[in-house]
Amino acid sequence: MKILVTGGAGFIGSHIADAYIELGHTVHILDNLSSGKLENVNKRAKFIKLDLNSPELKDFLISEKFDLISHHAAQMNVRVSVDDPIFDAMTNIIGGLNLYEAAKLSGVKKIIFASSGGTIYGEQDYFPADEDHPTRPCSPYGISKLANEKYLFYYKTVYNIDFVSLRYGNVYGLRQNPHGEAGVVAIFINKMLSGEQPVINGDGLITRDYIYIDDVVKANIISLKDEVSGIYNVTTGVETNVNFIFKTLKELTNSDCEEFHGPPKAGEQRRSVCSYEKFYRLHNWKPEVEFSEGLKLTVEKVKQSLK
Ligand SMILES: NC(=O)c1ccc[n+]([C@@H]2O[C@H](COP(=O)([O-])OP(=O)(O)OC[C@H]3O[C@@H](n4cnc5c(N)ncnc54)[C@H](O)[C@@H]3O)[C@@H](O)[C@H]2O)c1
Repeated sequence: MKILVTGGAGFIGSHIADAYIELGHTVHILDNLSSGKLENVNKRAKFIKLDLNSPELKDFLISEKFDLISHHAAQMNVRVSVDDPIFDAMTNIIGGLNLYEAAKLSGVKKIIFASSGGTIYGEQDYFPADEDHPTRPCSPYGISKLANEKYLFYYKTVYNIDFVSLRYGNVYGLRQNPHGEAGVVAIFINKMLSGEQPVINGDGLITRDYIYIDDVVKANIISLKDEVSGIYNVTTGVETNVNFIFKTLKELTNSDCEEFHGPPKAGEQRRSVCSYEKFYRLHNWKPEVEFSEGLKLTVEKVKQSLK
C-alpha cells in the first residue's frame, strides 16, 4: 500500500512509519518539524517538510495518489490548547480539514486518525469509559479531536472515504515528546537520568490510562485491514496515578531524588481510564505490555539512545 503518515517525525507517527515500512508498505512522511525531529524519520521513507495548512498540500496529495493516510500531525499539548485555542484549532481542525479535502480530491480510500481517549470523554460518568460514553471534552484540544471524528464521519458518509479513529490513552515510550498527553513519563525519566529533581503536581493522585508505544503500533497495523472501520479506544483499562510512576521510575533509574510535590495544575482532569473491550471483541486487539514492564523497557531504550 502507498501510505502517507502525517506527523511521522514525531513520537507516535515515527514508530508507526517504521512498522509500516517493515511490513513492506511504501511510506511517505509529511511533517512541519514543529515538534518532530528529522532523526526520527525512517531513512526508507520519503520525507516532505510541509505544514497541514500549506497551499501546496492539495497538489502534493493529488500527484502522489496515496491509498491511505495515517493522520498523526497535531498540536498535541493540552495546556497550549487552553492558552491558545485558536492556534490549536488552526492546526488540529483547519489543518485536518485541509488534509481531508485534499484526500477527497486525490482518491484516498481510508484515513486512520490519532484521537484521544484521555480527553474526548471529559470527566467520566463511569470507569472505564467505553466508546459509548458521552463525549464532553473540557479542553480545546479534546474538542478538536472530537471535531475531527465528526468530519471524518461526514467524509465517509458523503465521499466514501473510510476511517478508523483510534482514541489513545496516554502513550509512552522511546522518542516521547515531554509536552504531550503522557508527558509525565518522559519528563520524569529525563530529569531522573540527568540528576535533576522532578516535581509532582499536587497530591500525585491524578490518574490516567498509560499505554506502551508498541501496543499502539499494533493497533495501527490492524487498522490497515479493510474490515477495520470506526472508533476504538486504544487503552489498557488500567488506572495509574503519578505517585506510582514516580516511585517506579525512581527505582528503575536508581535516582536518589526526593518525592517533591508542587502546587496542583488548575483545571486538570482528575481521573481517566478507558475500556478496550470493543477493539478486542471486534478485531482481537489488546494491550500486551503491562505498565511496569513498559516503563522498564522505556528507561532501557532512553539510556541506550543517550550513549
Ligand atoms: N502522546 C499521547 O499520549 C497521545 C495521546 C492521544 C492522542 N495523541 C495524538 O497522536 C498524535 C501524535 O502525537 P505524538 O505524541 O507523537 O506528538 P508529537 O508532537 O511527537 O508528534 C506530532 C507531530 O506533528 C507535527 N506537526 C505539528 N503540527 C503540524 C502541522 N501544522 N503540519 C505538519 N506537521 C505538524 C510535529 O512536528 C510532530 O512531528 C497527535 O495527533 C496527538 O494528538 C497522542
